[in-house]
Formats: sequence, C-alpha cells, structure tokens
Amino acid sequence: MYEQVSHTLLNDILNRIKPEISKQDLRHFYTRLGANFYSIHSLFQKLYGDREDFVAQAQKLVETMALQYIKRPENLRRLDLAREKDYNWFLSQQLVGMALYCKGFAGNLNNLQGHLNYFQELGVNLVHVMPILPCPEGKSDGGYAINDFREINPELGTLEDLQQLTAEMRERDLLLVLDVVVNHTSDMHYWAKRARAGDKKYQDYYYTFETRNIPDMFEQSMPEIFPETSPGNFTWNEEMGRWVMTVFNDFQWDLNYSNPSVFIEMLNIILFWANQGADVLRLDAVAFLWKKIGSTCQNEREAHLLLQLFKDCCQVTAPGVVYIAEAIVAPVEMIKYFGEDAVIAKECEIAYNATFMALLWDAVATKNARLLNQGIKNLPVKLERATWLNYVRCHDDIGLGFDDRDILLCDYEPARHRKFLVDYFTGKFEDSHARGLPFGQNEKTGDARISGSLASLVGLEHALETGDNKAIDDSIKIILLLHSMILSFGGIPLIYYGDEIGTLNNDSYRDDPLKAGDSRWIHRPWFDWEKAERRNSPGTVEYKIFTALKQMISIRKEITVFADFNNRELIEVENPHLFVFGRYHLQQPSEQVLVVANFSEDPQHLNLDDLGTWKAQYKTLVDLYCGESPDIFKNSLVIPGYSFYWLCEK
Ligand code: GLC
Ligand code: GLC
Repeated sequence: MYEQVSHTLLNDILNRIKPEISKQDLRHFYTRLGANFYSIHSLFQKLYGDREDFVAQAQKLVETMALQYIKRPENLRRLDLAREKDYNWFLSQQLVGMALYCKGFAGNLNNLQGHLNYFQELGVNLVHVMPILPCPEGKSDGGYAINDFREINPELGTLEDLQQLTAEMRERDLLLVLDVVVNHTSDMHYWAKRARAGDKKYQDYYYTFETRNIPDMFEQSMPEIFPETSPGNFTWNEEMGRWVMTVFNDFQWDLNYSNPSVFIEMLNIILFWANQGADVLRLDAVAFLWKKIGSTCQNEREAHLLLQLFKDCCQVTAPGVVYIAEAIVAPVEMIKYFGEDAVIAKECEIAYNATFMALLWDAVATKNARLLNQGIKNLPVKLERATWLNYVRCHDDIGLGFDDRDILLCDYEPARHRKFLVDYFTGKFEDSHARGLPFGQNEKTGDARISGSLASLVGLEHALETGDNKAIDDSIKIILLLHSMILSFGGIPLIYYGDEIGTLNNDSYRDDPLKAGDSRWIHRPWFDWEKAERRNSPGTVEYKIFTALKQMISIRKEITVFADFNNRELIEVENPHLFVFGRYHLQQPSEQVLVVANFSEDPQHLNLDDLGTWKAQYKTLVDLYCGESPDIFKNSLVIPGYSFYWLCEK
C-alpha cells in the first residue's frame, strides 16, 4: 500500500543508504520493500515509535534486510521467485516431515548427510534438524540454550558441513527446517557475558533488575514453565549484582524485545539462517516474546506484532522461507500465530497443532473419542494459506492443554480428568501398561505434563517384556492409528525420529546428573541403527511399523484432498469410540475421502445414516490404505479395534 508518511521515511532511508548497498542491482529487493514498507513502518512505529532514535533504528532495519539480500545466494533467490509463483507449495499433501536431533540420529552433520536415503526410503521429504548451535557445557536444554547464533556446535561440524548437507538435500528434493531460538539466549552468549560485565548496552538486551520489586510484581501473574528444575521466573546473577528474567531454565536469559536493537539482531539472525539454505524456520517459544506486568507474559498482543514484523521483513529478503510457530498454548491463542489476515497481517504460515496432539493422547487413554470430537469441533478455523504441523510425539512433553469447557462437555471433571491422564500414561492407573513419566509437576497448582516415547506410552515396552503377542500387535496398531490421523487431518505430518521403528524409552539420561531432573530426555533417543536394520526383516516390530508407515505416506502423497485448504469436515457420529471426518475438494466435490478411526480395542460399528450428506457418496467404499472394501452389514460399517479407514468411492 502507498501511504505518504511511510513513503517519505522510505525515501529518506534510501537517500542515506550505504553505498555498498546502493550500487547493487536490487530490483526484487526494492519491489518487495515497496510492497511491505507501509506495514513494516506501522508495526515498527507501534512497537518503537516513541523512541528518540526511531529513525536511526528504521534505517538500520532496512540496511539489515538489504545486506542479507545481497548475501543471499543466487540459487536461493531463484527459489524465492519460484515459490512466489507456486505460493501454496507448503500446503501440499506431498510434504511429510521428520524431526530429529542431529547428534542422537547420526552423531554429526556429515553422518546425517550419509543417512539421507533413510528419509527417502520412508517418504519423508522435510527434515527438522533440531538446534545444532553451541550451548553451555551440560546446560543445553536440548539445544535451546544458545551461546552463539551464527556458529555450529563443533561436536556436530561446521558451517561448511551444513552447506554441503543443504546442497545435497536440495538435489534430492528434501526440505530443511532449522530453529531460531528467538526468545532467549544462554547465559554464556556474548551479550549475556557483556551484560554480566556491567555493559549497560547489553544489560538492556535482557530484563535485569536491581531489587526484587519488579520481579515480585511479575511473579504474581506468571506461571512457572519448569517448576521442578527451575522454579520462578528470575535468577540472581552474582557477578552482575542483578536479577535477570529466566522464564525457562535459570541459564536461559529472556531477550528484551522492547529494545529495537534486539529485534534487529534477531531479524539479522533469522535472515542469516534463511541464507544458509533453510526452507522453513521454526521460531521457538514465540508465545513468550513480550513481557508485561500483570499478565502471564504469554500471547501478548505485542508478541504478535513482533512476529508480523519478522514476517514482513523476511518476505522482503527471503520470501521463499516460511515460518513455523512453536506456541504450545490454548487453541484460541494458538490460532492467532497464523496472523490476523493471510495477506496483510500474517505471522507464521505453519503452527504446531498441540491441541490435536493432546486430544489424540486423550483418545488413547480413554479408548474413546469423546474429547477428541469435542476439541476438534471447537478448534477455531484457521486462515487461508496457513497450515498445521500435526504430530504425535516430539522432543518435548505432552501438555494437557485442552479447554476446560470441552472437558466438562464430555462429563468429565477437568482436574480429575487431567490427573487420570497423567496416572494413565505413567502407568499408575490400573490396566494401564504405559511407561511414561511425569514432567513439570507443580505442587502449588497440581499441574503435570507427560514424558515418554510413543512406543513406551502405548504399551509396546511392557508387551515386549511380557512377550504378550496380542499386546504387541495392539501397540503397533495404536502407533499406526495415531499416524494415520496426522497423515490425513490436513497439514504437514511430522514424525518424531525413532517412532517409525518403535523406539522405546531411553533411560540412560538418569545417569547424567545434568539431565536427570528433566524427564524429557527419556524420549530423546540415540537412534539405534541396528534396530532400524530390522525394518527389512518381515515379522519384526520394526518391519511392521516401518512398512505400514511407508505405505501410508506414499498413499497420502497421491490423495490430493489431503492437501490443506481448510477442506475438512468433522462428522459427528453416535458411536463415541469413533473419530470421523471428511476431506473434500473445493473445486471437485465428487472427490472425497472419509476418514474413520476406532480408538477402542474392540470392533465398532458406524451407522451409515450418521454420515448425512456424505452418505450418498459411499455406495461402494474402498479403503485407500489397504485397497479393500470394509465390512458392511446392512447399514453398519464395521471398523476393527484400533484401526482406521481412508475411504473413497470405488
Ligand atoms: C521450546 C523447545 C523446548 C525448550 C523451550 C525453551 O519449547 O521446544 O525444548 O525447552 O522452547 O527453549
Ligand atoms: C514450550 C511450552 C511448554 C513446554 C516447554 C518445554 O514452549 O510452552 O508447554 O512444556 O516449552 O517442553
């Protein structure tokens, strides 16, 4: 949009711009800057407009974008143009992701490059390599406490190794997802070191306080993220003689985004990783970006403005790169991280679907889909050109962040129901063979979350120990059922490394005193390549899971209605054990797929009359996954225990 005030500022900025920028051919940069500058200016003004140095900061912002554009490699610039044309590329059903630790999966970046065939064998074409940057010794938070945002952890390799990896991935049509930990640095980062040494400039990069007055004020309304290992939200730093805000661990210092220098530094880092060849950037802990007294310091309006600004600026320099929002918050809040509008107030194109994940686990524990149906019914509709990252497990805990009203609507009492779930997955509940651990237990509030590997949570570990073949088969069925959901729901499915071969809990973290307090390490495995080898031996657990997943993935890629254009309809059916939804084509209504999942261990029937308008379509049905027609008796479709159908008309 053309608007005089912002355009005058833009002209001034361009008149003053450094000669190293002005002498370059930056045609595409300038057209994009012109397109987004009104919005960039409004956001920057809203956030930082009352500062005396506003104009100088705006100059710096534009120069940062320009200098990174100049550095952007030619092949990535071409990719930007191609994605500008094919702008729905990230909504495609062709995308299937996997998240992994480079060290746990392959040891280092070079070896990871050597394992690219493995992804292709399974059908995975988007790889999220979790943080590979240097962390303080023993205080890594799994890579999310960063000492230097532009270096690779020497244990894992070098920037050259990463360049080789991305080059080969691009050759093989594999997309790369990298993290940018935007909310905090480690206490060993240069900025934190300078702040500790008393440098005011860098103290202003963080939230530091001389007395407890302000921290105590904040604590009244801020929840604790890691109540067991890192209670409270502030840490006393002896050297600096000040309290510093540390929402996560005490060694993770929260960045102060009310300082525009912090915003510009972090934008520069985002663009740096875009230029290293990342296709997708996962912005970590985005709900926490803005702190305000009297609030929970999560999901604040300004956090959204910051993300909109990050997006607008990235579109000028590297428009082919999309963002994932990691905001594990309530459904109504989560949805806001896509932005307010798909064109003018966009934020992140992709967001973790933590609601769906937690609801799936509820269905596993209760063996029915009541809360799952209820929760999905109330999942707010997202923007166009925004998509979910659907997952069963990840490197973090399972939070039980359902809406209390939904729990009540299912006739459960919220606190008791959550306690049941924790008891169920930690194996305390009678008849439960789950082997999870509690995480983040908070004595004061009674809250708790859950850790554990997928296979151990669904009873595979117990079943293997007892040699109970029926239980082994059931666990495998649940693993496949859960994956059939994330592969068909709409969005990018993200498999967690090791789940495709039924990896069990890894107890070894208990021997490391620096990890023992954080039960999430139980599901951050050393990938067992010998075990993975058994995927080639028919009859083994690994073979059963891997081959079934591989088949599901290849079928998903062929089913165009599985692309995410908000083309899903939840179908409410009478049988509470079933979760049923339809996927359809906006242009070709005849192309539909009906997804039916049975969370009970017993066979269940679906009354075809429940299908309403969908019914007529399903005269002769065939399951796309196994290629056969399901059993129908009169008007009842029968779904075996713990199984699913992807049905279409023959
Ligand atoms: C994100 C990460 C998590 C980490 C936290 C703090 O939620 O996924 O592992 O502990 O951010 O950085
Ligand atoms: C995330 C989430 C929180 C999660 C934690 C790490 O950002 O907000 O629920 O437990 O960080 O696991």
